[in-house]
Amino acid sequence: MAEQAPVFTDRRRAESFGSVAEDYDRYRPRYPDALIARLVTAPGLRVLDVGAGTGISSAQLAGAGADVLAVEPDAQMAALCAAKGIPVERNTFEQWQPRDRTFDLVTFGQSFHWVDPDVALPKLARLLTPGGRLALMWNRITANDSVRRELERVSAQYGVTTPAATSGSNAETALQALLRRTEFTSERVEVREELHYSTEDWLSLVFTHSNHVVLEHAAKTELRGRLATLIGDDGVDAVNEALALICTRSNVTPASRG
Ligand SMILES: C[S@@+](CC[C@H](N)C(=O)[O-])C[C@H]1O[C@@H](n2cnc3c(N)ncnc32)[C@H](O)[C@@H]1O
Repeated sequence: MAEQAPVFTDRRRAESFGSVAEDYDRYRPRYPDALIARLVTAPGLRVLDVGAGTGISSAQLAGAGADVLAVEPDAQMAALCAAKGIPVERNTFEQWQPRDRTFDLVTFGQSFHWVDPDVALPKLARLLTPGGRLALMWNRITANDSVRRELERVSAQYGVTTPAATSGSNAETALQALLRRTEFTSERVEVREELHYSTEDWLSLVFTHSNHVVLEHAAKTELRGRLATLIGDDGVDAVNEALALICTRSNVTPASRG
């Protein structure tokens, strides 16, 4: 069987978010506070937030006291991030120039699967201060079983499969292997939240996912209508199993500094 191309090579999807930037900012979830607290361990921590989008994670990190610089290639996403008072450098991470700058923490919120890991990981190793951390985070929201199978069955008819790039255990195992190869040791942190969405809020969230964003207009309208009918008026009970892989370089610790 032919091997599937890695998701980051699908640039049509990677570059699709700007067309739904406002909905993205409004409906995509914030990261659990417990996760942000694990990351911002001291005021003034120098953080680089990569693929920052509309600045959801950047604003949370800044709110917890970090000094955040965002990197984001899309103009419309970057504009919303900048509007939150976060300095943004417009570029892909692969092309972005660090210019001798280093960071105590580099974060990728829902964005590591959009970069080429073979370019990103060696670059990250050079960007981190000794003992610095890399945090790869994903909010993984799924509807409860009662409605999920039906939503997935109908969505599949439009070529839309739900699992995100990282939600499967195979994807995570592959990522862990890549991290080890670049001498990153990772700690796995999961935070679980129970959520409830109104029908419209659920659909607005789902239609900010790149596989939905790139659907043709007619298919999008039809799918949204069919999902709305399936869900009915009661909305969706869901769970967020937020995941962070908090990584440090195996051979570099604060004690080995200097
Ligand atoms: C799913 S959004 C995540 C946004 C934000 N971090 C969050 O947590 O909501 C992914 C973002 O990655 C950006 N992106 C795509 N390719 C990228 C690349 N090669 N380097 C950096 N960012 C990229 C997209 O423009 C988009 O804003």
